[in-house]
Amino acid sequence: MSILVQSPTDNERWVDEFRRLLPDHDVECWPDVAVPAAVEYLVMWRHDPSDMARYTNLRAILSLGAGVEQFLGTDLPDVPIVRLADPAMADEMAVYAVSWVTHFQRHHDVYLADQAKTIWKELPYTPAAEYTIGILGHGTIGRCVGQAFAGLGYPIAAWSRTGGDEPGIEHYVGSEQIGAFLAACDAVINVLPNTPDTAGLMNSDRFASMQPHAVFVNIGRGSTVVEDDLAAALYAGRPAAAVLDVTSIEPLPPESPLWKHPNIRITPHSSGPTRLGTAARLIAANIDRLDRGEQPFPILDRSNGY
Ligand code: GLV
Repeated sequence: MSILVQSPTDNERWVDEFRRLLPDHDVECWPDVAVPAAVEYLVMWRHDPSDMARYTNLRAILSLGAGVEQFLGTDLPDVPIVRLADPAMADEMAVYAVSWVTHFQRHHDVYLADQAKTIWKELPYTPAAEYTIGILGHGTIGRCVGQAFAGLGYPIAAWSRTGGDEPGIEHYVGSEQIGAFLAACDAVINVLPNTPDTAGLMNSDRFASMQPHAVFVNIGRGSTVVEDDLAAALYAGRPAAAVLDVTSIEPLPPESPLWKHPNIRITPHSSGPTRLGTAARLIAANIDRLDRGEQPFPILDRSNGY
C-alpha cells in the first residue's frame, strides 16, 4: 500500500521527506502511480477529482495547505480530508500581521515619505495598550495571531460564528455583532476561510462600521472581501488603509485597480507558506495515526467548509 504525493512545488523534496519519515511505506511521486489501487493516502493541494476513482483503496486525503476550499463542492471520495494545522505557519502569519499593523500604527509609511524629503518630524502614536486588534475569524490561526499581539500588550477583540470564552479577549459572535466588533477595533486582521458563509462578508456596510483611522489586513481568503467596496471605502476615508495578502483572483491581474490604490498594499499570498520541515512531520504523524486506526486531526467538516 502506498502514499501518493502531489505537491505544486518541490514535489521530489516532499517525496524524499516522506520516505525518510515513513520508511515502512511506499511513497510515490505524482504523476508516476505504479498501482493506483495500492494508494491509501493522497497528500495533495489540488487534484483532479475525476482522477480519484482509480484509487479504489483510498483511506484519506491529507492537505498540503491550511485552506481547504479546493476540496469543497467537488465530487471527492467519502474519506476523511485532513487539514494542515501547522503552528509554525500560524506563527509566520502572526509575524506578517504584526509587521503591517505596526507599520501603520507607528507611522512607518509617513516616515518613509518624510525621509525622501529629509524631514525629521516625530509623530504621536497610539500605544499598543490602547490599540485594539480585531481578529476576524477566531480559529486555529486566528487565535495564534491574537496571542502574538496580546504578548506585545495589545487588547484583543475576536469575531467568530460560534463565539468563545478565552479570558482577556472581547468576544463578538455572528452577524448581529460584526458591526460592533469592527467599530471597536483599530486594526482588523481577517483570517476567515473561503466558505459559502464568508463569501463577500466584508462589504461596504461592514467597512462603514470601521473607524476612519483603522487598518484592514487580509491574510484569510480574498473571496471574503468585496474588493470594489473596499476600494471605495478607502477613497471615502474609512478605513484608512488595507493590506491584502490574498485577493479574489490570484495572482492579482495586472489590470486590477487594487495595484494602484494609494491606500492598499499588496503582497503575493506570502504571509504563511507551507514549510516542508514542519508540515511533513505533521502529515506523517496523521498517517501514523490512521495506520493505528486512530483519528487524524483536524478533519475537514464538509458541512461548514472548514
Ligand atoms: C495558504 O493560504 C494555505 O491555505 O496554506
